[in-house]
Amino acid sequence: MQEKFTALTATLYDYLIAHNPPPDTALRELAAETAALGPISIMQIAVEQGAFLTFVARLLGARRAVEVGTFTGYSAISIARGLSADGRLLCCDLNEEWAGIARRYFARAGVAERITLRIAPAIETLRALPPTSEIDLAFIDADKTGYRAYYDELLPRLRPGGVIGFDNVLWNGAVADPANTTEDTVALRALNDFLVHDERVDIVMLPIADGLTLARKR
Ligand SMILES: C[S@@+](CC[C@H](N)C(=O)[O-])C[C@H]1O[C@@H](n2cnc3c(N)ncnc32)[C@H](O)[C@@H]1O
Repeated sequence: MQEKFTALTATLYDYLIAHNPPPDTALRELAAETAALGPISIMQIAVEQGAFLTFVARLLGARRAVEVGTFTGYSAISIARGLSADGRLLCCDLNEEWAGIARRYFARAGVAERITLRIAPAIETLRALPPTSEIDLAFIDADKTGYRAYYDELLPRLRPGGVIGFDNVLWNGAVADPANTTEDTVALRALNDFLVHDERVDIVMLPIADGLTLARKR
């Protein structure tokens, strides 16, 4: 019997990429410069996730967005491109070196005026935001043990109908392996268990890249 899911092979993944909007020169060059940083480049979101984030931002007609975990800027550019003309994205990260790369590519991608990149522990940046419900879209892709605290700060500030995305919710399969009890795995597993029962949101967990959950505020 045919399975209801299609496992991605390398060939099929190439096909998927070929049938998504292609990254432009700025994003391709950013991916190349990030790859040159070495194994840490694995932190960058996948190409199809970039297309997906732009799509979701447009779908929501997003004006106010927040990103937790910017690294060299691929997801930030992808979100910023989907915002309405007067849209603004607040980015949170800790690392000045990666932020320097991100800022260069924000300019190259033509979205620098839309983005504020704050270098500080994300929890401090989020707690300093006004308590009003005006955020349309948030994307969380930083330290995994911090996801729950970021959610707790972001949800009250999200407008009804607004969406929070959580990256890496499958954690390379580790969340479904009870023998895996690393701190990150335990944190993501607890978050997944919590979100599926959280009455304040509608959620969907998608098998994009390393797993992406979207939570829509009711
Ligand atoms: C997986 S990477 C983000 C990848 C990025 N979304 C992209 O598309 O390239 C995680 C980022 O979170 C940042 N980070 C980790 N802990 C953080 C914290 N407590 N506050 C703010 N940023 C943090 C790291 O410096 C790193 O750049």
